[in-house]
Amino acid sequence: MRLRRHPLARQILSTHPLVVQQPEESKGQWETLFPSKQPLYIELGTGKGQFLAKAATLHPHINWIGVEKIEEPLMHAVQKGEATECTNLRYIWMDITKLEEVFAPEAEVDRIYLHFSDPWPKTRHAKRRLTHHTFLDKYRNVLKQGGDLILKTDSVSLFDFSLEELEAHGWKIVEMSRDLHQSEWANTNITTEYEEKFSGRGFTINYVRAYPPRER
Ligand SMILES: C[S@@+](CC[C@H](N)C(=O)[O-])C[C@H]1O[C@@H](n2cnc3c(N)ncnc32)[C@H](O)[C@@H]1O
Repeated sequence: MRLRRHPLARQILSTHPLVVQQPEESKGQWETLFPSKQPLYIELGTGKGQFLAKAATLHPHINWIGVEKIEEPLMHAVQKGEATECTNLRYIWMDITKLEEVFAPEAEVDRIYLHFSDPWPKTRHAKRRLTHHTFLDKYRNVLKQGGDLILKTDSVSLFDFSLEELEAHGWKIVEMSRDLHQSEWANTNITTEYEEKFSGRGFTINYVRAYPPRER
């Protein structure tokens, strides 16, 4: 996602009430940031935030957090979130590599969404893929008992790699489709910006839901 640099993006994000400024300080107490104690779902690489704004509106009994490292898309996401007037929605301006610094182990996160993550097609960049097992370990560490991971992507190579990584590292795949929009999960699917862009160009959407391994 290459958006033109916005001169005020940093300033807006640094002061916006929906952006959690010192997320490490909320480790272990995320529920205190929201009006209601309820499940916490997080979207990693939230981009311009369409999914999150729709999800928070449709599912008020869930607390939602979007994590994004680039200012410009996050600024758009926050503006969309603000327009919803939802109180169950926050954003973190952060690199996903720091996930374990801001969420307590196995205590807070009920679901992780990865939507249209960068595919990093070159083999030498495999470690950067957000479903490389070094990232899967972070997700396992922060997910609560019974928590799960959902991935959607247009990229067949990233999807194949992700299935291999999940299976090789003990994750239990419970739902899977190589054409989500024609599947039994289509009715409850909430589309992202990238999803609409790629499905509009004729790409099918790959989908998987999985539980982490729990034995240590
Ligand atoms: C291809 S876009 C998809 C955006 C959105 N999820 C969608 O489906 O429309 C991927 C997003 O993930 C973000 N991202 C990639 N790696 C990240 C990381 N390590 N930490 C935080 N955000 C990341 C990028 O900045 C980008 O906004």
